[in-house]
Amino acid sequence: MKPYIYITRKLPDTVAEAITQKYEVKMWEKEDIPVPREVLLSEAKRADALFTVLSDSIDKEVLTAGKNLKVVANLAVGFDNIDVKTASEEGIAVCNTPDVLTDTTADLTFGLLMATARRVVEAAEFVKEGKWKSWSPLLLAGHDIHHKTIGIVGMGKIGETVAKRATGFEMNILYHNRTRKPEVEQRLGAAYVSFNELVEQSDFIVCLTPLTGETKNMFTRDVFKKMKQSAIFINASRGPVIDEQALYDALSAGEIAGAGLDVFEKEPIDAGHPLLKLVNVVALPHIGSSSVETRMTMMQLCIDNIEAVLVGKAPKTLVNKDWMPLVRA
Ligand code: GLV
Repeated sequence: MKPYIYITRKLPDTVAEAITQKYEVKMWEKEDIPVPREVLLSEAKRADALFTVLSDSIDKEVLTAGKNLKVVANLAVGFDNIDVKTASEEGIAVCNTPDVLTDTTADLTFGLLMATARRVVEAAEFVKEGKWKSWSPLLLAGHDIHHKTIGIVGMGKIGETVAKRATGFEMNILYHNRTRKPEVEQRLGAAYVSFNELVEQSDFIVCLTPLTGETKNMFTRDVFKKMKQSAIFINASRGPVIDEQALYDALSAGEIAGAGLDVFEKEPIDAGHPLLKLVNVVALPHIGSSSVETRMTMMQLCIDNIEAVLVGKAPKTLVNKDWMPLVRA
């Protein structure tokens, strides 16, 4: 019998077709609707491999639904949607898609920073809505980016790559991270500072930290209060790292100047959400790594990881380094 791979989200047919000779492959087919929980559970019961996306909650119930599951390959670098500890206990490999999305995500993050600072979305809507009646000196005037201070919270590979982008704008680069990175400090001229110093001194605070027990709700009302009134906050990590109500309060009280958000506490964010009513908020639908090239590469990496585990090899990008395949009776 061929091993069974269940893909929780509609992918281009070519991705699945390439492996149907060797595997039985089924894919959730509805373009705009995520796989319902009961379908996920019933597929997990018999699957050898799950190809998942970040909106799927791969918890203990899913991981222990059946006896065949050997690998979960998540189409994202983040894996906060997966109970990694249980996966390890169950002998299930968890794989993600680091590296291949680093440049693309850094591009989007820097683009979001620029769009927010220079009011690009607001200005584009202004033109399309026929509001542009004359040129005027301070029409849609925004904030400069060049020579300002950027503070990066979470100096992983994406953080480093955003810092590299910032050097081109001759920015002063601060960062805060669990561990110091002397090599990055040397190469990019970035300075390590405490979280408080970063928040107080930066013109642009860019959040790129993974969501963990430690980083959840890291940006509270108190933290926003410490920022400069001209500060712009960018979040391209995970929504729950910030207290969204606190961000809304800070923005509406004029305590900070703007926010560019690619991620939200609850995704998709409701169109009526108060944050979306603020003119100084640029909101994107979690598209950090979304270029065609990168998403296709990420899909292939997930497939490669699944195939590796199913033939008894080590996957390329394993999350749970303590993974040991279980030999089940
Ligand atoms: C996207 O948010 C990812 O984790 O890749």
